[in-house]
Formats: sequence, C-alpha cells, structure tokens
Amino acid sequence: MKTGNNIILVGPMGAGKSTIGRVLAAQLNLPFEDSDRVIETRTGADIPWIFDVEGEQGFRQRESAVLRELVQAQGLVLATGGGIVMREENRRCLNSGGQVVYLTASIEQLLERTYKDRKRPLLQVDDPKQKIIELIELRDPLYREVADYIVNTDKRSPKSVAHEIAGLV
Ligand code: S3P
Repeated sequence: MKTGNNIILVGPMGAGKSTIGRVLAAQLNLPFEDSDRVIETRTGADIPWIFDVEGEQGFRQRESAVLRELVQAQGLVLATGGGIVMREENRRCLNSGGQVVYLTASIEQLLERTYKDRKRPLLQVDDPKQKIIELIELRDPLYREVADYIVNTDKRSPKSVAHEIAGLV
C-alpha cells in the first residue's frame, strides 16, 4: 500500500534521473532530492570514496538508510541511484513511498551519457558497455517490479520527459 505521495525516479545510470527529476520538480513546483547527493552530504565524501573505503556494501547500507528517511516526506520528487532496487527492503520502501517512474534508455544512450564520467565506480572497468548490459539484465525485472509507470528517455530532452511524467502521476 502506498503511504507516500512522492514521485520517485528509478532506472539505470545515465537514464537521466537527476536531470529529469530536477526539471520535473521545477515544473510541478515541488521540492527535489537526489539520494546519492544526500548520501554524499551526510558522509562528507563522494561516492567513489565511499566505495573505496567502505566497499559497495557500505554504500548500500547508507543508501537504504537515506531512502527510508526520504520516503517519509510528502510531495517530494526523488531521484535514486541505479542500484537502489537491489535490496528487497528498498523495493518495499519505493513501493510505499509514492508513484515510481522507471526511466529507460537504450544501451547506446546509457553508454554515451556515462562514458566520460569518473564518478560511477561500477563503470570504472575495461568494458563499461558490457557492464551496463549485465546490470540491465539483472536489474530491469526489479525496476519493473516497483514501477507504476515506464518512460523512455531515448533522444529526448529532460523537459519533454518531465512533461510526460507530470501528465502521468
Ligand atoms: C549505482 C548508481 C549510481 C550510484 C552508485 C551506484 C548503481 O547512481 O548510486 O555509483 O549501482 O547503479 P546513478 O544511477 O545516479 O548514476
């Protein structure tokens, strides 16, 4: 059962969750939060540092704690990290926290939007395209499990995607 009325964006790295979320919040005149940025502010360190020092499990623990807290809000637009759906407790939190929108994009677009970025530890590998494919295979069913709506972002402006979401929720 949904107890929250937030709008929560999920999807892979490079789907545009943060950019679109910010635009959507401005369009709807709602506050915006980004779980990754909240984790960084709380920790006083960036995500690569957290992965280095605490490992992915350390990051995931912080992520679950921040999600639990953020979904208590009402009327928030919330962008989440691409791996948030991996934990069952998070999926329950997402489900109850509001309308969940799964942002999708083609592998090529995801790669194009992330390839220069050094801030995503999981993509600092020899073959980031292969990594993106593996992550999508693993996570797509989980994004679908929590999604109330699925919106494709391929070759679209953040403004146009945000406008579509505003018409759905
Ligand atoms: C991750 C995605 C990142 C960030 C962390 C792990 C993932 O967020 O949470 O690097 O597991 O897919 P974005 O989806 O905003 O890049």
